[in-house]
Amino acid sequence: MPPYAFFRKQFMPLGEAKIGVLTHALHYGTACFEGIRGNWNDEQQQLFLFRVREHYERLLKSCRILKMSLPYSIDEMCKFTNELVGKSGYREDVYIRPLAYKSSEVVGVRLHDLEDDFLIIVVTLAAYLNTDAGVRCCTSSWRRVDDTMIPARGKITGIYVNSALAKTEANERGFDEAILLNHDGHVSEGSGENIFFVLDDKLVTPPSSDNILLGVTRDTVIQLARNELGMETLEESVDRTELYLADEVFFTGTAAHVSPVLEIDHRPVGNGKIGKVTKELQRLYFDVIKGKNPKYLHWCTPVYSKVVQTRRS
Ligand SMILES: Cc1ncc(COP(=O)(O)O)c(C=O)c1O
Repeated sequence: MPPYAFFRKQFMPLGEAKIGVLTHALHYGTACFEGIRGNWNDEQQQLFLFRVREHYERLLKSCRILKMSLPYSIDEMCKFTNELVGKSGYREDVYIRPLAYKSSEVVGVRLHDLEDDFLIIVVTLAAYLNTDAGVRCCTSSWRRVDDTMIPARGKITGIYVNSALAKTEANERGFDEAILLNHDGHVSEGSGENIFFVLDDKLVTPPSSDNILLGVTRDTVIQLARNELGMETLEESVDRTELYLADEVFFTGTAAHVSPVLEIDHRPVGNGKIGKVTKELQRLYFDVIKGKNPKYLHWCTPVYSKVVQTRRS
């Protein structure tokens, strides 16, 4: 079975889904997207899409920022997603990428008087960060874009130049990931992850006003910490020096899952090992996304009804 795309209102083999070289979004970064995980549960022979509705709710917010209107409801986009993954027949973890983009083939920087289109593709994804061994980070020399520049609360393709600059700088300096500060020097987020701290026994994460993307995984972890560990998360600005004083630090993201940060700017985080709170939240999170925790099954959409078709790779 070839992988499929949902493109121009229909399903087609991925290799046939092509856009023209004049497409507005390609030139000006005028698109917004989502990253949704499908998590394979081997015992149940089932693939679970995680919080797919919440991802589409965020996509529609990003669309509003970019003055885009899509011809589909959230229910329809959820249905297309489910159908696309099912058609492709995956029996492993997958990453789904819906994209809403300015599709007019025209030159000229603007948001208005342009056509919009929507597509979905699905791929397999190798481990993004090492969730077992933890990650080594640096504070980036690049600052997070401000809401008055390109609003970080929208998942807008053009913004990812900011993330790419920071990620490549970090990798070229020998680190796994970058931590970006915002314009006034507070900690914002990783290049593709939200960040949490255990500071003086409190769970802390930067607020949306510090130019973060409001992550679906961030919300998941806030709820798991509250419901399962009895820990409220404080949404507060964090200073750079607090990165060095935290007992535990971890990233959250659809691609990154819950990834422990064990070193920042060559300083060990806490005792340099994965902390208790991080470990517990990671364990809860992995069970939840694979549909193994009945209490949170409402976040998981099964792709297959009965017989699972096999995708040969
Ligand atoms: C910049 C940025 N921050 C945070 C996140 C985490 O968001 P989510 O948990 O919804 O994947 C992502 C990933 O989508 C991201 O790209």
